[in-house]
Amino acid sequence: MGSEAQRKRVSILGCGKLGISMALVFEQKGMDVMGLDIFPTYVDAINNKTLKSGEPRVTELLQKSTNFKATCDVDEALDFSDLYFIVVDTPCTGSRHYQQFYDHGKLGNILKLINERDRLRNKHIVISCTVMPGYTNTTGKFLVKDAIERGCTLSYNPEFIAQGDIVRGLLKPDMVLIGEGSQEAGDRLEDVYLNNMCDNVPVISRMSCDSAEITKLSINCFITTKISFCSMVSDMADRTPGANKFDIMRAVGADARIGQKCLIPGYGFGGPCFPRDNRALGGYARALGVEPLIPDATDRYNEIHSTNIAKLILGEVSGEAQGSARAMKSSSHLYAAGQKALQSQDTSAYCELDLAKKRVVFSDVCYKPKCTVPIIEESQKLMVAFLVASELPEDFSVIIQDRPDILHEVQKKHGPLFKYETYA
Ligand SMILES: NC(=O)c1ccc[n+]([C@@H]2O[C@H](COP(=O)([O-])OP(=O)(O)OC[C@H]3O[C@@H](n4cnc5c(N)ncnc54)[C@H](O)[C@@H]3O)[C@@H](O)[C@H]2O)c1
Repeated sequence: MGSEAQRKRVSILGCGKLGISMALVFEQKGMDVMGLDIFPTYVDAINNKTLKSGEPRVTELLQKSTNFKATCDVDEALDFSDLYFIVVDTPCTGSRHYQQFYDHGKLGNILKLINERDRLRNKHIVISCTVMPGYTNTTGKFLVKDAIERGCTLSYNPEFIAQGDIVRGLLKPDMVLIGEGSQEAGDRLEDVYLNNMCDNVPVISRMSCDSAEITKLSINCFITTKISFCSMVSDMADRTPGANKFDIMRAVGADARIGQKCLIPGYGFGGPCFPRDNRALGGYARALGVEPLIPDATDRYNEIHSTNIAKLILGEVSGEAQGSARAMKSSSHLYAAGQKALQSQDTSAYCELDLAKKRVVFSDVCYKPKCTVPIIEESQKLMVAFLVASELPEDFSVIIQDRPDILHEVQKKHGPLFKYETYA
C-alpha cells in the first residue's frame, strides 16, 4: 500500500495535547506530518510557530520542525497520507452506563467524514483516542463501512502517556499496544513505531481491536488497584503501633512477582486517566454481567484513604491523634501515577501543620507530584485539603501553596475555601 514517499507521511487528526506531541515526535524522526484541527487561530499558531505549550519539549520541537504543517481543511489532511491517527478528545460524560461513559461524538464525526469521501482508498485509519471496549469493531467499523469496502482498515492504538510527560512517554514506552484492523495495518504500525517514533525498542503487543481496548483499560486499572492496595496496607500500618508502612511496602515490592512500582505509601491516585479508566473497565464488566468487584473496591478505597488522611490531620489539630499525623509526615508523597520505583524514603509531608499559627499547609497539589502542567483533576491531596478545610475550627486556615498557574486552577474550583500562597 503506497509508495516509499507515502510511507513517510502521516496525518494526525486532532492536534491537542497528545496529537501535537505525536505529530512533532514523528516529524523529528523523519516523517512528513500534516495535522488537522478545528480552530484557525490554533492552527495558525502552529504554522507560524508562535504556539507555546506547557507540555515539556513541545514548544522546542515545534520551533525546530520543518516538515510539520497544520490545517483546518479536512480534505487536505485526508489526501496527505495513507496513515491517519485520530486523536480527538473523548471526554468522560459522567454517566456510569458503559455505552455513554465516554463521549465518542467527535471521533464518530471524523470517521463519518472519512467514510463519505469515495476517493479515499486503502487508507489505514487508526483510533488513538480512549474508547470503550467494543467501540472499534462495532460503532467504529459501522461508521467507516464504505471506506472498509474501498480497502481501508480501522485499527485501535492508544498511547500510555501522562500529561506533563507526553513526549518522553512517546519516545520511550514500555509497550506499544496495537489492535490491528488487518495484518498489513499491524505491520505498518509496528514499522512506524520502531522506525519513526520510539528511541527504545518497546514490547510490541499486537492483537485484535477488542483485546486491545480491554488491555488499555486493564493496564490502568491494575495500576490503580496496586495503588489502592498500598493505601489500604499503609492505613493498617498507621494504626499498628510499631509498624512502618515503608518497610512493609518495600519488602512487598521486593518480591519479583509484585515489583516496587506504585507501592510507595502516600496519597491515592488521581488525574485525567487513572480514575476514569478504572471506572470504565468496571462499567464494561458490569455491562457484560461480570461483577466488577476489583475496580469498584479500588475506586472506593481511594476515597476512603483520603478520608483517613484527613482524619489523621484533623486528629493532630484537635490533639486527639497524639502524634500519629506527625508520624505520617515522614511517609508521604503523592505518587499517584506511581511510575517511579521506590529507591529512597520520601520525607515530604502530607501537609505542614503549624498549630501555633493555626495553619495547615498543602503544597504541590496537582494530581501527581512535581507535575509540570496545572492538572488538579481528582487530585487526592486537594481532596484531603477540602475535607480538612470543611471540618477545621474556624480560627484555622488551610493554605494551598503552589505555582501561580496551579493556584489559578485551584482558586477557580474552590474559591475562598482556602488561602493561597505562591512558592517563595
Ligand atoms: N493527553 C493525554 O495525556 C492522553 C493520554 C492518554 C490518552 N489520551 C486520549 O487521547 C485523546 C486526545 O486527548 P488530548 O488530551 O490530546 O485532548 P485535547 O482536548 O487536548 O485535544 C483534542 C484536539 O482535537 C481537536 N478536535 C476536536 N474535534 C476535531 C475535529 N473534528 N477535527 C479535527 N480536530 C478536532 C480539538 O480542537 C483538540 O485540539 C483522548 O481520547 C484522550 O483520552 C490522552
